[in-house]
Amino acid sequence: MNAAEIDSLTAQAVAEAGAAGTADAVEAVRIRYLGRKGLLPQIMAGLKDATGQERGAIGRSANAFKTQVTAAVDARLAALRGAIQQGPVFDYTRPGAWRGPGSMHPVSLVIAEAVRIFARMGFRVAEGPDIETPYNNFEALNTPDYHPSLDTTDTFWLGVGAAGLAAPPYQASQLLRTQTSPVQIRMMQSHPPPIRIITPGRCYRRDTTDATHSANFHQIEGLYVDRQVSLADLKGTLASFAREMMGSGVGVRFRPHFFPFTEPSVEVDFSCHVCAGKGCRVCKHSGWIEIAGAGMVDPRVFGKVGYDAEAWTGFAFGMGVERIAMIKYGIPDIRLLYENDARFLAQFE
Ligand code: PHE
Repeated sequence: MNAAEIDSLTAQAVAEAGAAGTADAVEAVRIRYLGRKGLLPQIMAGLKDATGQERGAIGRSANAFKTQVTAAVDARLAALRGAIQQGPVFDYTRPGAWRGPGSMHPVSLVIAEAVRIFARMGFRVAEGPDIETPYNNFEALNTPDYHPSLDTTDTFWLGVGAAGLAAPPYQASQLLRTQTSPVQIRMMQSHPPPIRIITPGRCYRRDTTDATHSANFHQIEGLYVDRQVSLADLKGTLASFAREMMGSGVGVRFRPHFFPFTEPSVEVDFSCHVCAGKGCRVCKHSGWIEIAGAGMVDPRVFGKVGYDAEAWTGFAFGMGVERIAMIKYGIPDIRLLYENDARFLAQFE
């Protein structure tokens, strides 16, 4: 092979490498020209037989053949690899993979179970919006506008800039409800007594997230208004709910507390389901877990909704759904409920 023939083969190989559409096609070019049984060894073999001047020219052409074809092959491979990386991540030609049906979220399971239990006691579900007025969330619930829970560090206000927050009144703006209690107000404003409702729903507070706090969480509100309702009715209702939800061994206790919209007010604890009251990490070694706030509807709230406080009495409660789910299913960290890892959720069928 003379120098001119080698040069033309070089051009041909470079063109073929450049035109190769796949990595396999590039590899075929490489084997054909540079491989052990390819053209390069033949060229080198020809060099032996060449003489004098011819030999130098063939040598230069052979070197050019090797470096140029190698470079063309490498460049084409790199270009193809780049094109793959820049191309669609999703392969539309792959058949779909069936991952099986999903499962009910523990929060949904607890709500569904609570709705069933309370339905048997004559409670119907009522719902309200997540975006509320300060009137429904605070004022009508006998919560004055200097109450700390209105503070920007506790409540998510909507449409209020930093300057606006320093300057009440808040009445012009809206908020993400901090509790399901405003549904009590909506219900009583629109329905005459008697009333028996539960309200499952999402609530929002500016809490820093940790193992037991989340900026959004769920409550189940209960409201029972009738003649001569007593604290004993409240306790009996919550105790029988606790037994059905957690099992017959569960204990219920009331601790005196304060809420602006109930009088008297209590906090409601269930005995710890994880350790059966003996004391463990989940109940912080007290044997009890706070599940709900509750109390007798304050006459002032009846006044706000136009009910005759002399004629009507009632109890209300608001319980934490995540709390119940955590002790019912032994979930150690509330954040697990919000990560929605399918492997975690699949355990609660
Ligand atoms: N809304 C109260 C809270 O979120 C709970 C509660 C509801 C208390 C009803 C009394 C009556 O803490």
